[in-house]
Amino acid sequence: MKFLSTLVAATLVAPFMAAADPTGCDGNEEVLKFSVVTSLKGHPKGEAAMTYAAAINEQLNGSYCIEVYGNSELYDDAEGFVALEQGDLHFAAPSLAKFGDYTQKMDLFNLPFLFDGPLHALEFLQSDEVEQLSDEVTNAGFPVLSYWSNGMRQFSATVPMRRPGDAEGLTFRVSSSSPITAAVLDTMGITPKKLSFSKVYDALASGEVQGQENTWANIATKEFYRVQAAVTESNHTYLGYAMITSQRFLDSLDPETRAVFVDTAKLVAHERNRFAFELNQQQRQNILDDDGIILRLTPTEMQEWRDAFAPILERFKPSIGAELVETAVRINAEADPFN
Ligand code: SIN
Repeated sequence: MKFLSTLVAATLVAPFMAAADPTGCDGNEEVLKFSVVTSLKGHPKGEAAMTYAAAINEQLNGSYCIEVYGNSELYDDAEGFVALEQGDLHFAAPSLAKFGDYTQKMDLFNLPFLFDGPLHALEFLQSDEVEQLSDEVTNAGFPVLSYWSNGMRQFSATVPMRRPGDAEGLTFRVSSSSPITAAVLDTMGITPKKLSFSKVYDALASGEVQGQENTWANIATKEFYRVQAAVTESNHTYLGYAMITSQRFLDSLDPETRAVFVDTAKLVAHERNRFAFELNQQQRQNILDDDGIILRLTPTEMQEWRDAFAPILERFKPSIGAELVETAVRINAEADPFN
């Protein structure tokens, strides 16, 4: 794992090598803060944020310098939105699940089995239709600079789960107040409990919650699997990020400098998103190497999960927008992500 992430990071950061240490800001530079709730190394978002910082610090050396803070060291996601508004924070990349206060449309990403895999979701994120999502978040004061990828979520619990009803009666941590996520858990007979990401391990370890859903990268880097009976390879929803800044910060920049911040975010998305899938697969292997238990579902079992969640898509279409949901369904069906 270490080898892969170091290799990938080195390859991508190579053009910006002179500023490879994003925390090495000079006294004459304006210091900008990028807050990340996940791990930095070996994590799709952490690696992308460090790549972005290194690229900006190289290009704007002497003027601006980004410091990246991982593991919720500065803020959790909810605090991050406030800090961006107040000018204390300049960049963040919250999960798409956490934009419910700004647009209901983003709840689309919580629809179970909408995307067959992360590369299908990325094809949708690159489509023109996604501009309406970006516009709503931007209009709320958080310009979306690009979309960064993590991967598919997996369920885990204190009981092994092969069927949707296997964890009935338990309480699972959820990352947002999404009514769709609540409906998914309700279908499974599970009670949702919203907790910030930094609180999940302790809540699982203490028994405050008995299960959760997240990507291989998040489950492995935060060691959730160590306090769970097993992780079920459910691949039921996509976890991606909107990389955002504050309107106040963007407006303070001259057009040329603003273009550097905006264009570099897109370049990093292009470079890093290709590796998010591999990073997650490597983190899945790390769980196995550490004696974590992963349950692979048979096609029949998987169909049972799909059938159980199928009514949720129709139910929530009107609140998200039928056209947007149908576009996502179409793009997923037509996607040829390996070409
Ligand atoms: C993240 O990947 O940023 C954290 C998502 C979560 O809160 O589960």
